[in-house]
Amino acid sequence: MILLRSLRDTNKKVTLLNLFQTVVQTNKLHLNSVLPNKDDFVNINLQGNSLKYPSVWLRDNCQCEQCFHQSAKSRILNLCKFNVNVSIKSVVQDETSVQVTWDDDHVSRYALNWLKFRSFMPEDQLKYTKTLYRPVKTPWHGKDFHKVCAKHDYERILYSEAALYKWLQDLSTYGVALIQNTPNCDTALDGIVEKIGFTKRTHYGVKFIVENVANTSNVAYLSSNLQMHVDLPYYEYCPGVNMLHCLVQTLSEGGENLLSDGHHTASYMKNNYPDQYKLLTDIEVEWSDVGVEHGNEFFKLYRSSVICLDRHGYVKRINFSVPQRGSHFPGPIETVKPWYEAHSLFYELNQKFAAQFKTEAGDILVFDNIRLLHGRSAYEDKSDNVRKLIGAYVDWDEIYSRLRCLKAKLNPLEGI
Ligand code: OGA
Ligand code: ZN
Ligand code: ZN
Repeated sequence: MILLRSLRDTNKKVTLLNLFQTVVQTNKLHLNSVLPNKDDFVNINLQGNSLKYPSVWLRDNCQCEQCFHQSAKSRILNLCKFNVNVSIKSVVQDETSVQVTWDDDHVSRYALNWLKFRSFMPEDQLKYTKTLYRPVKTPWHGKDFHKVCAKHDYERILYSEAALYKWLQDLSTYGVALIQNTPNCDTALDGIVEKIGFTKRTHYGVKFIVENVANTSNVAYLSSNLQMHVDLPYYEYCPGVNMLHCLVQTLSEGGENLLSDGHHTASYMKNNYPDQYKLLTDIEVEWSDVGVEHGNEFFKLYRSSVICLDRHGYVKRINFSVPQRGSHFPGPIETVKPWYEAHSLFYELNQKFAAQFKTEAGDILVFDNIRLLHGRSAYEDKSDNVRKLIGAYVDWDEIYSRLRCLKAKLNPLEGI
């Protein structure tokens, strides 16, 4: 057995001190001590590498039955009694685990592979983010659509977990994946949805039918040209993924799908039109949908920009819909015209970068509704050929969750 103690690292101390000072300045926090002391970190030897763990984090993540509920897989320690400045009596490591005895004689034991999986090394954190947190998205131009839009088989998704995993992985990477050979019945989509979990219900129903309807509540339910858009941008919790099962495709000209990757367009704008990009990321407009569906009144409003960024500057959501953008403009009057110019440019670029194709009966077109813009050209119904799609939405939370469950099952990660 090796006895380890954490050591003070002078160089690191300077960096940490700067970091703490920034935190103190920006958040006006009062920290008791800004200098790390020898008990703030524990160094653990893992296959020849020394990995460093904050003591407070180790104490918080004690896996004993008093601190962690085994069947609920959840932390249960009492935060009122939690000491952020915890100090250590001893650290003992053997071949498979590390045992820490704290100043109050509480003993914590951690499996080495459990610790390795939770490494604080930036490269390990990045690996975890990419492999388990969320797959990395690959932006595409419409000319590469045939390469990125993988074709998946309905029955295989239902009966093979590997096929289900591959389909969801493609969907999260490229934002689009086609399912073929779907039975021609109104409930076929349910089988696929159940493989993930459940649908996102909206005021258009648990599922919705896309057909030409006179006096419609939504312009998508017309046979005229449907400009590229995302569905339901007026929801704060906007449906993540759209699934459109084609039961009857039009034999007329038209009825073609247009798909464009909003992430590709956003990055093109950022590089080539930074001012317009900034307007689309900064200025909020109001998305809206007002009416009655299935006898239920709705009055949905949501303010958001066209391109929504996360705190790292990555695109997290695209909002775009000509019919479902309201006429109230919440921003300053001087921003209106420049915003319209940027908005038109964004649309023009999406049209330029879009892929055009036509689904067939038996296809389910599945795409990321908060990333891709989709549209459809005008078509004409005949008495013996009435175009009909059945749609449903599923949230990304459910898809990422299913992906992780499948990953853990098909390709178990050590220390998970
Ligand atoms: C919609 C839609 C596409 C199509 O209903 O919102 O985009 O192919 N439909 O009809
Ligand atoms: Zn404990
Ligand atoms: Zn749509």
